[in-house]
Amino acid sequence: MPLLATSLLIALLSLAITSEARLRTCKARNLPAIEVFGLEIVNLSSKEQRGFEAWDQPLDSNLPLKFKPLDFCNFTITYTHPGQNDRIHVYIWLPFDDWNGRFLGQGGGGWSAGGDGALASGVALGYAAANTDAGHSLYGNFDDLLGNAHKWAMLSPGNINWVLLQDFASRALDDLPKIAKQVIKGFYGEEPKHSYWSGCSTGGRQGLMSAQRFPTNYNGILAVAPAINWASFVPAEYWPQIMMRKFNYYPPPHELEAIRKAAIESCDVLDGVKDGVISAPGLCAFDAQSVVGSTFYLDGEERVVTSAAADIANAIWEGPIQDGKREWFGNTHETSFGGMSPFMGIPDGLAMTICAAGGKNCEGYSFPISPNWIQYFVEKDPKFDVLQMDESDFFEALHRSRNEYSSIMDTSDPDLSGFKASGGKMITWHGLADELIFPNGSSNYYERVLALDPGAREFYRYFEAPGVQHCTGGIGAFPSHALDSLVAWVEKGIAPDTLDAASISRDKSEAVRSRPLCPYPQVAAYTGGDPDEASSFRCAESFDAFSEQRGPHTEL
Ligand SMILES: *[C@@H]1O[C@H](CO)[C@@H](O)[C@H](O)[C@H]1NC(C)=O
Ligand SMILES: *[C@@H]1O[C@H](CO)[C@@H](O)[C@H](O)[C@H]1NC(C)=O
Ligand SMILES: *[C@@H]1O[C@H](CO)[C@@H](O)[C@H](O)[C@H]1NC(C)=O
Repeated sequence: MPLLATSLLIALLSLAITSEARLRTCKARNLPAIEVFGLEIVNLSSKEQRGFEAWDQPLDSNLPLKFKPLDFCNFTITYTHPGQNDRIHVYIWLPFDDWNGRFLGQGGGGWSAGGDGALASGVALGYAAANTDAGHSLYGNFDDLLGNAHKWAMLSPGNINWVLLQDFASRALDDLPKIAKQVIKGFYGEEPKHSYWSGCSTGGRQGLMSAQRFPTNYNGILAVAPAINWASFVPAEYWPQIMMRKFNYYPPPHELEAIRKAAIESCDVLDGVKDGVISAPGLCAFDAQSVVGSTFYLDGEERVVTSAAADIANAIWEGPIQDGKREWFGNTHETSFGGMSPFMGIPDGLAMTICAAGGKNCEGYSFPISPNWIQYFVEKDPKFDVLQMDESDFFEALHRSRNEYSSIMDTSDPDLSGFKASGGKMITWHGLADELIFPNGSSNYYERVLALDPGAREFYRYFEAPGVQHCTGGIGAFPSHALDSLVAWVEKGIAPDTLDAASISRDKSEAVRSRPLCPYPQVAAYTGGDPDEASSFRCAESFDAFSEQRGPHTEL
C-alpha cells in the first residue's frame, strides 16, 4: 500500500508540475480545446512577443497611445460558423507578467470590427486584451476602415453578404469574449476576475450591442461616441452633400469655417463662460444668414460669406427634416464642417469640399462610409451613383435603410434589463463637436433608456463632452480616464458622479484646462473662479443654476 501511495503521490506531483509548466507558456498546443456552441475552431496559432514597440493605433481614444516595450503572448484563433462559410479571426494578447486579472475586449472603427495590431494599448495597462475582425479583415489601412465595404458587403451585385453583415453587427461580438475567456483560463490557469469592453465609434456600437443582446459577457462597458442608430445616422451623414447639391453651391472650406466661427462667437457665452466652446448647443439659435456679406480671407484675398453658404450651414445644423418631420439630427454649431481628423490623421467632416487654388471650382467630398452604405447596402449596386441623388432620393434611401437594417445594425434597444440584472455597469460619453456621429443620437437613446427604467443611472450613465470631436480632438475637455472610472464603478461600487476631463487652454500654452463632465441630463455649470479649473464648476440641472453667485457673464 505505501508503495502505491508513493507512486500515486509522484504521479500527482508530476501532473501538477506539468500543468504548472504549461501555464503562461506561449504555445497553442498547451491550451485546452476551445468549445463555444455553434462555432468550429479552424486554426490556433501562438507567437511570443518580447519588447514589442510597434506604434499602436487604438481605435479607442480612452486607451494610451504611448507605452513601454511589451512582453506578451499573441494567440490568433481562426474559426467558422459551420455551414456559413465565414472565417473569423480573434486576436488575443496576454501579458506574461503584471497581468491585472482582467479581460478587455477592444472595439474597432468604421468598417473594421478590430484587428491584429490594435491591442498593445490594452496590454500596456495590464489587461489580457482581445478583438475580432468579424470575418472581414480591414485593419490598419484607412481606405479599408472607411471606404472599402465592397470588399465584403456583397456576394454579387444585388446580393448582400448577410452572414458577414451579421458577424460584423453582432454574432462575432458574442463569440469574442467566450473564446477569449477560455484562452485566458488556459494560459493563466484562472478566468479573468472581471471583463470589460472599451470602444469608440464602431467600437461604441459594439459595446451597446453587447449590453443589449449579450448582457452577461462583460461586467463593464465603455461605449464612446457610439455608431448607434446606424441605419439612420449613416445615410443622414450624406445630408450636407445633398444640401450643397440642392443649393447648387460648393462653398470653399474657409467660407463654412467663417460661418462656424461666427456661430461659436455668438453662442459660446450662453453657458456662462466664454471659452471658445459651445457647451449649451440646445440654447444656440444662431442663424447663418446673419453673417452674409461679412468677410473672410482665402489665399490672402478678401471674400464675403454668400447667402447660399448660409442656407447650407443652416440646413446642416437643422438636420434632415421632411415635410416638417425630423428624420434625423443635424450637426451642432460647434462642429467643424470639414477638416483634419486628429484621431485618424485624414480629412473628415460631412460638408467637405475640395477646391482648386483660390477656392475655385470646388466639389463636394463626402465622408466615405455614408455613400458606401447607400451604394452597397441600400441600393446593393456597385454602379449606383450617389452623385445623382436629389433630396427625395435621399429620404427614400434613408427610409429603406431603416426598414431593412435597423434590427441588424441599430443597437438602439432601450431595454437594458438583462445587463442590469447581471450587475453590469456602462458608461457612454459623446463629444458635442463630433463631426461624424450626431451626439443627439446618444442623448436620444439615453432618454429612451431612462423613460423605460427611471433608475437606469444606477448602472448606466451618459456624459456629454462639449467641444470634443469624434472620439478625440477638439478644444473641449477630454475624459481620458473613463475606463478607470468604469473599473472603479464595477469593482468598488464607486459610481461616476463626474468624469474628469482636461484640455490644453485656448492660448495653446502648456496650461491644461480641467473640467468635470456631468452625467446627462446634468450640465457643468460655472460657479465662479478660474474657468480653467474644474473646481469652478458644479453639476446642475441647467447652466443658470449658479448665475446669481457668479454675476454677469465672465469674459476670459
Ligand atoms: C494557422 O495559422 C498560422 C499562423 O497564422 C499559419 O502559419 C498556418 O498556415 C495556419 N494553418 C492553417 C491550417 O490555416
Ligand atoms: C500575432 O500573430 C499573428 C498570427 O501568427 C500574426 O499574423 C501577427 O502579425 C502577430 N502579431 C504580433 C504583434 O505579434
Ligand atoms: C441635441 O442635443 C443638445 C445637447 O444635449 C440639446 O440641447 C438639443 O436640444 C438636442 N436637439 C434636438 C433636436 O434634440
